[in-house]
Amino acid sequence: MNSLVVPKGLEGVIVDRTEISTTDQSGNLLYRGYRVVDLVEKLDFESVALLVLTGKIPDPEARSRFSDLLKTNSVIEGKVREIIRVLREPNIMNNLRSIVSLYPYKNRKNLDLLIEIASKFPSIIFYSDVAIRGWRDIEETGGTYAERLYRILTGRDDRENSKFFEKLLIMYMEHEFNSSTFALRVTASTLADPVCGITSALSALKGPLHGGANSEVLDYLLKFKSEDEAIRFIENKLSRKEKIMGFGHRVYKVKDPRAQYIKSQLKKLHGYDSVMKYAESIESYMWQERHIPVNLDFYGALYMNALGIEERFFLPVFASARVFGWSAHYIEQVSSNKIIRPQAQYVGPVGLKL
Ligand code: COA
Repeated sequence: MNSLVVPKGLEGVIVDRTEISTTDQSGNLLYRGYRVVDLVEKLDFESVALLVLTGKIPDPEARSRFSDLLKTNSVIEGKVREIIRVLREPNIMNNLRSIVSLYPYKNRKNLDLLIEIASKFPSIIFYSDVAIRGWRDIEETGGTYAERLYRILTGRDDRENSKFFEKLLIMYMEHEFNSSTFALRVTASTLADPVCGITSALSALKGPLHGGANSEVLDYLLKFKSEDEAIRFIENKLSRKEKIMGFGHRVYKVKDPRAQYIKSQLKKLHGYDSVMKYAESIESYMWQERHIPVNLDFYGALYMNALGIEERFFLPVFASARVFGWSAHYIEQVSSNKIIRPQAQYVGPVGLKL
């Protein structure tokens, strides 16, 4: 028998080439060759999304056309709103997955369709929440993508907070062959349409080991009354061999640059309070005791909380940013495709008789 030795979870295995993003030798995340920590200081969400999608930093005219496209496409039709209303699905991620799957895909260029789907995420989130919590009078379509989404999530038109929020969206936008992107690439490699690709990615993102971690972080962080209590909680979980949400990463074994950037912004946004003190104590403890670094979901959760965004929106926010990275990967996969179809090492019985 052919004995394949492949690391569990494909850890460390390079499965294909990509020009979209990578982590360089110093641990910086790069989108299309640029450090994300530089992009976030100089460009807005629309420009970074176009860079990720096309490989080029757009000129002001291209950026403005793209921004208009995101606005005009953001409206969702009455019949789709009605389906969301009737579904009354409390989990917004389930709604995103179901509603995206309704979109017609025939006779459309891949990039046009992907941009159209991505533009609708804020409105799908809005109507999903309205179906459960009742109508809110919010202008759904105006402003930049970050302003629109921030307004939908918080009910507030707030330029300054939207700018902070935009930084988190840029950090969440793209991350090489993470689980949801890989799920999308497997689907795209069968030449299934973009709608199938995005729904595969949304499904994979929902798990607590991937995007689902961010909403679990606040559950434990906000309940501590002292540093001792915070550390005891972590010690107890570790002694039961449980995972601490918001820690660990397949790629970043020393430092997640996105987490460190968002932490620095969090201090500007919110100052330094007791929750931040507990967060930093846990971060130091995890590093000193286990050598496990904090990841973006940990400080991302605190950051969204400081921006007044409620926990039920945390993962949909991640999805609303990552959908642009997924779209770039769909295009890249189909443009030089080979079906992704690995093999398994069979370890079951053979030759059984009936
Ligand atoms: N809490 C406690 N222990 C952790 C941990 C965490 N969050 N993350 C990793 N570890 C431990 C593992 O138990 C393992 O220990 P062992 O060698 O004694 O068995 C070791 O560190 C290596 O971790 P492993 O789970 O094999 O790494 P991975 O690359 O397969 O998994 C994650 C990466 C992200 C899935 C994992 O770190 C995790 O589950 N984190 C929590 C969920 C999370 O925050 N996800 C968001 C990621 S951005």
